[in-house]
Amino acid sequence: MRVLSGIQPTGNLHLGNYLGAIRNWVRMQDEAPCFFFLADMHSISEHIDPAQRLTNVREMTAALVACGLDPERSVIFNQARVPAHAELQWLLNGIARMGWLNRMTQWKDKAGKNREGASVALFTYPVLQAADVLLYQPTHVPVGEDQKQHLELTRDVAIKFNTDFGVDLFTVPDPYIPKETARIMSLRDGTAKMSKSDPSDMSRINLADDDDTLSQKIRKAKTDPEPLPGEAAGLEGRPEAQNLVGIYAALAGTTPDAVCAQFAGQGFGTFKPAMAELVVAKLAPIRERYVALKDDQGALDAILIEGARKAAEVAHPTLLGAYEAMGLMR
Ligand code: TRP
Repeated sequence: MRVLSGIQPTGNLHLGNYLGAIRNWVRMQDEAPCFFFLADMHSISEHIDPAQRLTNVREMTAALVACGLDPERSVIFNQARVPAHAELQWLLNGIARMGWLNRMTQWKDKAGKNREGASVALFTYPVLQAADVLLYQPTHVPVGEDQKQHLELTRDVAIKFNTDFGVDLFTVPDPYIPKETARIMSLRDGTAKMSKSDPSDMSRINLADDDDTLSQKIRKAKTDPEPLPGEAAGLEGRPEAQNLVGIYAALAGTTPDAVCAQFAGQGFGTFKPAMAELVVAKLAPIRERYVALKDDQGALDAILIEGARKAAEVAHPTLLGAYEAMGLMR
């Protein structure tokens, strides 16, 4: 078993990233060799100020380590430091079909009506993602639902490459959607995902928020006047209540049913203070580690450089195999 996954270095990690992805990564470190990277090469598909890009990568690295990714056990790196990603992508551009990419919902959503003005990188984004994965021969690629389509394309690319060149070079990877992945919604609208692009900061819990901010956000979170039901099924049709119970359960390491049983018949006036206490208790240690690390440029770069060295070593034979299979080298 080998695990690989990537995350866009957007800066400012929030609770949705943590409970939806990072916490699963942290757990997987106990089960298999893991490769986790920051998709900074993907980030060029949209314009970002270069200084901001560097800061995003460092801050995200600090956040990942603060959440429990351990650079001693896992390979943590950024794509740009491992040129094999860009190289394999170019080779896979010969394999991926325009039609496949045209069907990608992320491309359609992000380009919108302005396809002519979208960057080529936005269109070929899934090919770089395929290269990211196939270089490391992972058996498991933990991703959220929204990345399933890109993983399927990765499988298609691997199969077509192996077939076209009559080789058994690429492991065909399985998307791995961990069961306990929590889908965390906005604190202001239980039907919208918690997102770093939501204009209201009150809609999300940032890993860098201080205790008072955390408590205030929970106190002001949208709810309904009904008391909590005895079991989770009773939350049907109450998206905000369902979200808060879901967050509570995920952080407490229990189930929504157990949380409902505990608070049955009580209103949010009772539930919210308990929730604030739990959120603060769970997030304060992460924030403290994050704050201690985020401005330590030397330490962060050292983690990424060492990670890139290990990653490049593992990626190298596969890249060479691809050049050879295609008759570019022998
Ligand atoms: N596209 C992924 C996302 O936005 C990030 C990513 C890039 C990735 N390359 C990957 C995830 C390879 C898994 C494997 O979340």
